[in-house]
Amino acid sequence: MRLGTPLSPTATRVMLLGAGELGKEVIIALQRLGVEVIAVDRYENAPGHQVAHRAHVVDMSDGAALRAVIEAEKPHLVVPEIEAIATETLLEIESAGLTEVIPTARAAHLTMNREGIRRLAAEILNLPTSPYVFADSLAEMSAAADQLGYPVIVKPVMSSSGKGQSWVKGVSELQAAWEYAARGGRVDRGRVIVEGVIDFDYEITLLTVRSRGVSGEVETHFCDPIGHLQVEGDYVESWQPQPMSAVALKRAQEIATAVTGNLGGRGIFGVELFVKDDMVWFSEVSPRPHDTGMVTMATQRLNEFELHARAILGLPVNVGLREPGASAVVYGSMEATAIAFDGVADALAIPGTELRLFGKPEAFIRRRMGVALATADTTDIARSRARAAAAYIKPVRV
Ligand SMILES: Nc1ncnc2c1ncn2[C@@H]1O[C@H](COP(=O)(O)OP(=O)(O)O)[C@@H](O)[C@H]1O
Ligand SMILES: [Mg+2]
Repeated sequence: MRLGTPLSPTATRVMLLGAGELGKEVIIALQRLGVEVIAVDRYENAPGHQVAHRAHVVDMSDGAALRAVIEAEKPHLVVPEIEAIATETLLEIESAGLTEVIPTARAAHLTMNREGIRRLAAEILNLPTSPYVFADSLAEMSAAADQLGYPVIVKPVMSSSGKGQSWVKGVSELQAAWEYAARGGRVDRGRVIVEGVIDFDYEITLLTVRSRGVSGEVETHFCDPIGHLQVEGDYVESWQPQPMSAVALKRAQEIATAVTGNLGGRGIFGVELFVKDDMVWFSEVSPRPHDTGMVTMATQRLNEFELHARAILGLPVNVGLREPGASAVVYGSMEATAIAFDGVADALAIPGTELRLFGKPEAFIRRRMGVALATADTTDIARSRARAAAAYIKPVRV
């Protein structure tokens, strides 16, 4: 792979579709390799806009608008950072040979809808998953819950970060769950997945990198497993490495190989798995860096964003762990624009800590505004350091 000089005719151009905190870090990694980066998001001054060569505000669920920005910028690579994209347009653009979509347009398309990826994993690849039924109405949802047995988890087929997701413990909660799913789904298609609950010991993200090796062939690499804690379907803490039995780790890697191998292309994938003793269930996969993987900014020789940058450019990777660590999310905790943060010095006075403030122009109560990172000799100590650092950060209205 030959890399050019940005802002010149030799430039290697990469377009990020979605320029949130994860995209911002991918952009920084690409900038360090002299790549010309174009950041696209639906609102002005998104985190990644602030570190890219050019920024565009585009509704990426609008196929015509998406096509227009890609045709105008002519990137060599298009890198989706979010799920809410007109993926049909990506499929067309890829098959017309206009650009390369990372990892593949099909991967972006299948994973934006829970149905696509779940049917692939469970029905085609025969991987263990939670039991599930898709439903298009309250009546169908009720029948699904009866079939699976309570409690069940209801999720809109198109949503992320726990939006529109609820645990349903009995018949009386069905109506509210249906309405919540309709409100929380990205597109109100009124379709949900009803899942049986997996009683796992812990859950992990297995960051899996598909990158070109010295032979030129794509190889599969695994980072150390990342353990994480979810509250209402949104990640609040993660740590690496999560200890696992040898059998469970092998099984996890086999599942990740099967899923990412089928989706194809190059790049990093966040494979979400549930683990109980030696049993492993596939939950879902992001064909891109994963929010729980922000911990790798503290723990790995190359963080997940650098790994993604290298893999998409066709460069070799190193997935080695440097030291144990943890991350803890900093929330907006208020609705306001241009908030400030107090307590940063106190947070960073804790040994082994680092902080990322994403620079989001607007805060919401449950919006992720930053993340505290910590390293230590053990993940337990790192977790308490990261939590303490995050707790010091006080969003304030000025
Ligand atoms: N079938 C299930 N059994 C047990 N816990 C689940 C199940 N489905 C989801 N969860 C919990 O909810 C979290 C979010 O669910 P997920 O399907 O990953 O949604 P999202 O796409 O919003 O991340 C998971 O990380 C897990 O903690
Ligand atoms: Mg998830």
